[in-house]
Amino acid sequence: MHKILVAFDGSEPSKRALQYVIDLFRDSARPLEIHVLNAQYGPVIYGDYFTSRMVEDVNEGLLTQANSVLDEAAILLSAAGVAHETHAALGNVAEQVNEAVKQLGCDTVVMGTRGLGSFGGLLLGSVANRVIHEVSVPVVLVK
Ligand SMILES: Nc1ncnc2c1ncn2[C@@H]1O[C@H](COP(=O)(O)OP(=O)(O)OP(=O)(O)O)[C@@H](O)[C@H]1O
Ligand SMILES: [Mg+2]
Repeated sequence: MHKILVAFDGSEPSKRALQYVIDLFRDSARPLEIHVLNAQYGPVIYGDYFTSRMVEDVNEGLLTQANSVLDEAAILLSAAGVAHETHAALGNVAEQVNEAVKQLGCDTVVMGTRGLGSFGGLLLGSVANRVIHEVSVPVVLVK
């Protein structure tokens, strides 16, 4: 384990996933490269009613939202003295996680089993489920 991608949505399980990585960072003899990703999936906008300016505005708002979630992760990592990079993405979360793994050359994904979703009965959220299917590297799921 060398380059880790943490999928972070600000939920309690994702904070525990982050803490898992912080503990790993402290205990690891090898230097770890930590990347944190938040993806925001906006409405699909098309047709003649929307100008490119409107689409840009929506995307800008989504990126602001992603960055404010990432700020939370960055504060926790910095407080623990863990060097890291944050990545704000637009689009389907699992696809963006997969894309980031490939682009950044990550060898492990760390994420929560559940996220911000409100349906309590689920064992595994839909993003976690899809990431397991999508990525080719090991995925650590933190409860
Ligand atoms: N928008 C996101 N950006 C980055 N990571 C995310 C995002 N949403 C979820 N995750 C990651 O996936 C983990 C599991 O969340 P998931 O969304 O699968 O569960 P849920 O919200 O409980 O269920 P669902 O979204 O299916 O209603 C989170 O702990 C987090 O690590
Ligand atoms: Mg969710």
